[in-house]
Amino acid sequence: MSKYIAAIDQGTTSTRCILFNHQGNIVSVGQKEHEQIYPQPGWVEHNPEEIWKNTLEVIAIARINVSATSSDIAAIGITNQRETTVVWNKRTGRPYYNALVWQDTRTTDLVAKYEKEGGLNQFRDKTGLPVSTYFSGLKLQWLLENVEGLRSDAEKGEAIFGNIDTFLIWNLTGGPHGGIHVTDVTNASRTQLMNLHSLQWDEDMLLAYNIPGKMLPAIKSSSEIYGTVTNEVLPGVPVAGDLGDQHAALVGQTCFEPGMAKNTYGTGCFLVMNTGSEIKMSEHGLLTTIAYQFGNDPVQYALEGSVAVTGALVQWVRDNMGLIKKSSDIEKLARTVEDNGGAYFVPAFSGLYAPYWRNDARGVIAGLTRYVNKGHIARAVLEATAYQTLDVVNAMEQDSGIQLSSLRVDGGMVMNQLLMQFQADMLDTQVVSPAVAETTALGAAYAAGLAVGYWKNTDELKQNWAVAHTWNPDMEAAKREELYKGWQKAVTKSYAWME
Ligand code: G3P
Repeated sequence: MSKYIAAIDQGTTSTRCILFNHQGNIVSVGQKEHEQIYPQPGWVEHNPEEIWKNTLEVIAIARINVSATSSDIAAIGITNQRETTVVWNKRTGRPYYNALVWQDTRTTDLVAKYEKEGGLNQFRDKTGLPVSTYFSGLKLQWLLENVEGLRSDAEKGEAIFGNIDTFLIWNLTGGPHGGIHVTDVTNASRTQLMNLHSLQWDEDMLLAYNIPGKMLPAIKSSSEIYGTVTNEVLPGVPVAGDLGDQHAALVGQTCFEPGMAKNTYGTGCFLVMNTGSEIKMSEHGLLTTIAYQFGNDPVQYALEGSVAVTGALVQWVRDNMGLIKKSSDIEKLARTVEDNGGAYFVPAFSGLYAPYWRNDARGVIAGLTRYVNKGHIARAVLEATAYQTLDVVNAMEQDSGIQLSSLRVDGGMVMNQLLMQFQADMLDTQVVSPAVAETTALGAAYAAGLAVGYWKNTDELKQNWAVAHTWNPDMEAAKREELYKGWQKAVTKSYAWME
């Protein structure tokens, strides 16, 4: 039996390749950041060719670290930043334009148009999603309308679309010389073009968003052999797993039973709850989405609360404000004060996602007095993540009727003790992190490993999960309520900036 499973985690800020062993432990990592391109306020782009180049580099690093060759690697799984939209020419492999990143808000006017015509929730029954700048469908429409020659090439079947998973799989399996054009159900569910019931591209959605069906990839399960790598970086290794990163984290946290949930603290925060094989429509501003599908097994659905800006706010404080040198310094700065000093930071840089769905919101700092110093701002920055998660958990409990008894957490911000304790305090619930913190990559590895028989079944995966740390709530109810009231008031101040 081969020794390892490789996972590529193509995230918003960096690309990683991690090799896992049979116990689900990390044996090697390669990582590289890519450029964030901000051509105008609200626009966020990535260069797909840079991402592809970085992918090859990080695979090579991870492999060479442990002198692994193709025969040591049973399969490769892909997980990716979701919704980010790429169009490229299938003869040359060249992208027509930079990738439009999920956070990009250039489709705000299109959203307003659809809102006026039929309301934000007009496609919820089919897609589980509100009309928003967030999902791929409108980004693709923008590209088709604004990039010269793209629509006619798409109608001829020459220009093809994919999220980053599709772009990487196509390149890994041959690119212009026969690359495989596929995606999985989880990624497809974030385009707003797939019907949640039939798991196929929805003709009415293609019509509503004016998208030529010819340019779309085939929709597959999240765990099956899609093809084999032709690139010399890992020749002959089967590509056998594909999941959007938040769905992968759910799998990596082994949330296989309905009612189990995880929250990932990355650029944004994404709380996903497995709801089993039945579709649960949200009445409280959450998204209905696919949890995962392993081979021919029934698809599992999920409810998701997506928060656009959490870790990205810490980066903004570091890069745009220069308040800290490195992201981890935020905790030290926040610990210089006792509390937020009355200040609240609502980081509505991309509008507000769940549960508000306000495309017209923009960031605000509320409650400033001369008393407030940079320690209080650092604290408000961290608290914003916890309040936004509480907003989502409240919605999740109302929609699912399930009260969370503990929350499984992962992602970069879990290192921040102050934040995790404050999170437990605000939720009044235990917060638990797993021993293998890289749950996103692990989930992609699990999907790939299940497809090739490296792991037998999900019971085997569950045995790999263990607790690393538990934070217990320790705040009086009155204090919690007072803080949360301040946050809720601040949120209303972020609305309607565009008017
Ligand atoms: O929906 C966007 C999400 O998939 C991005 O996740 O971790 O790359 O910021 P991350």
